[in-house]
Amino acid sequence: MSSQVNPPAVILTGDRTTGPLHLGHYAGSLRNRVALQHRHQQYLLLADTQALTDNAGDPGKVARNVMEVALDYLAAGIDPDLSTICVQSALPALAELTMIYLNFVTLARLERNPTVRDEIRSRGFDRDIPAGFLCYPAAQAADITAFKATLVPVGDDQAPMIEQTNEIVRRINRQIGHDLLPEARALIPDVGRLPGVDGKAKMSKSQGNAIALSSSDAAIEDAVRRMYTDPDHLRVSDPGRVEGNVVFTYLDAFDDERAAVADLKAHYRRGGLGDQTVKRRLETVLKSLVGPIRERRAALARDPDFVRDVLRSGTARAQVLTEATKAELHAALGLFEL
Ligand code: TRP
Repeated sequence: MSSQVNPPAVILTGDRTTGPLHLGHYAGSLRNRVALQHRHQQYLLLADTQALTDNAGDPGKVARNVMEVALDYLAAGIDPDLSTICVQSALPALAELTMIYLNFVTLARLERNPTVRDEIRSRGFDRDIPAGFLCYPAAQAADITAFKATLVPVGDDQAPMIEQTNEIVRRINRQIGHDLLPEARALIPDVGRLPGVDGKAKMSKSQGNAIALSSSDAAIEDAVRRMYTDPDHLRVSDPGRVEGNVVFTYLDAFDDERAAVADLKAHYRRGGLGDQTVKRRLETVLKSLVGPIRERRAALARDPDFVRDVLRSGTARAQVLTEATKAELHAALGLFEL
């Protein structure tokens, strides 16, 4: 993946700190980040302030999960010597930039953002949308531009955020008369969005269809056993459908032996290949991916001081950068100087 990005870019991504990460996060973005950190300047944002926009009733959960997501990052292979991990709520410049950016986007445009619309529906906000929630794309624009990021590795659901960020960037640059803020490009993996184990469009912890990045072997076995296949594939000898079959979607996402997967697909389509055989292969693939992550995570969890130090020093570096961008923007807009 990283070889597709030339020359070196500044990368920013983030995750809401609402719970431990799952395989959907890994396939959608985290795996790219681990690869990209070697050749690019990379910042990872623990987005606790954004998490509050739909969790204002449980700030304790948001706070607790800052460490959990940090542990997931480190266990998955984010190297704190190569990537900067920082905490959103400790970066006041991000909130200050958000206040400015909100004047360069209309309410109608915020309401049209398709991801926000989906989220409003799935959270049942309906007529009671928290204002912070509707406005979070402007905050995300602040996150991205404060670091002057040019590349944002994300899952496909985040593409509208990057589009909206670039609209805000263009309006601000037009207002100040030069390109102070760079536009950013989304880097979206070609495997597409990872469905939940039940076959629903999106893996999500709240839907109970996710496999956590630090799952036990037993949890993986259970998830694979429950996994949605082809409901019409009743007998082993029947021809089966590969499209929409979650087991094959996951093999596509996680099995490195492409040729073997292609053979399995052909066999399944022909008939004569049982779900159990394919599921056993997926179980092995997932266990060998998750096992080492789980072990590294357990070791890191025993050393919270180390993790806290990583967050402190990363956030301190990010503070310098984001304050500098804020000062540049204030000057470019000609805001009053005391
Ligand atoms: N919206 C992202 C999510 O829901 C999290 C996020 C916050 C983010 N700030 C970001 C992603 C900046 C990319 C860039 O997971």
